[in-house]
Amino acid sequence: MRKSLLLVVAGILMGGSAWAGDAAYEAEKAKALANPYANDFGPDKISDKDLASYPVELQDAYKNVLLIKCAKCHSSARPLNSQFFEVAGKGAEKQANLDKMKSTDSDMFFSKNVWQVETDIWQRYVKRMMSKPGCDISDAEGKAVYKFLSFDSQQRKAGKNKAAWKAHREKLLADFKTKNPARYKELYEK
Ligand code: HEC
Repeated sequence: MRKSLLLVVAGILMGGSAWAGDAAYEAEKAKALANPYANDFGPDKISDKDLASYPVELQDAYKNVLLIKCAKCHSSARPLNSQFFEVAGKGAEKQANLDKMKSTDSDMFFSKNVWQVETDIWQRYVKRMMSKPGCDISDAEGKAVYKFLSFDSQQRKAGKNKAAWKAHREKLLADFKTKNPARYKELYEK
């Protein structure tokens, strides 16, 4: 009798906490969808040609983490068309590379809505997303997808692809301004 009562209580408690977790996740997802970004209206995949040129472990992070786990609340278009650009390098090297970029790539500092160049921006954002309820990304997966996002930004948003990126991002921003002027103002005119 006692034992079965305990089982019932345990069942209620476990069911209850799972429900609370689901509700927090649903609320976070609703928030993500109710507040769109210009990013959301771009492609939700990168081209097969680009992907094939990436190191195998980054291709895996893209397929297994970015396309699946980073698309649970909003589409994978949100990270893939983001203005975030993390400077290449390790540790203190990054600040030196950022300083260098200010003269070698001064055009990448003209609008934060096209390129937001920082030393640790993807690391910060992946951590921020991982702390959200329902984002079940392990530390290893988080690190892998962070490496993918840094590398991918350096490939598709800089070097020979700089002009194409600028045109792509400016088109997304212009279309978004027409579609959703209030949200545009909130995000991009501050
Ligand atoms: C649990 C839901 C959820 C998951 C899972 C999730 N996100 Fe988000 N994401 C959000 C919400 C909500 C926002 C709106 C801004 C905020 O709350 O930080 C957002 C915003 C963003 C933005 C826009 C930030 C900006 O200011 O321009 C990017 C980029 C992003 N997410 C990337 C990712 C990546 C990468 C992953 C996977 C590592 C991920 N998200 C997983 C909920 C989620």
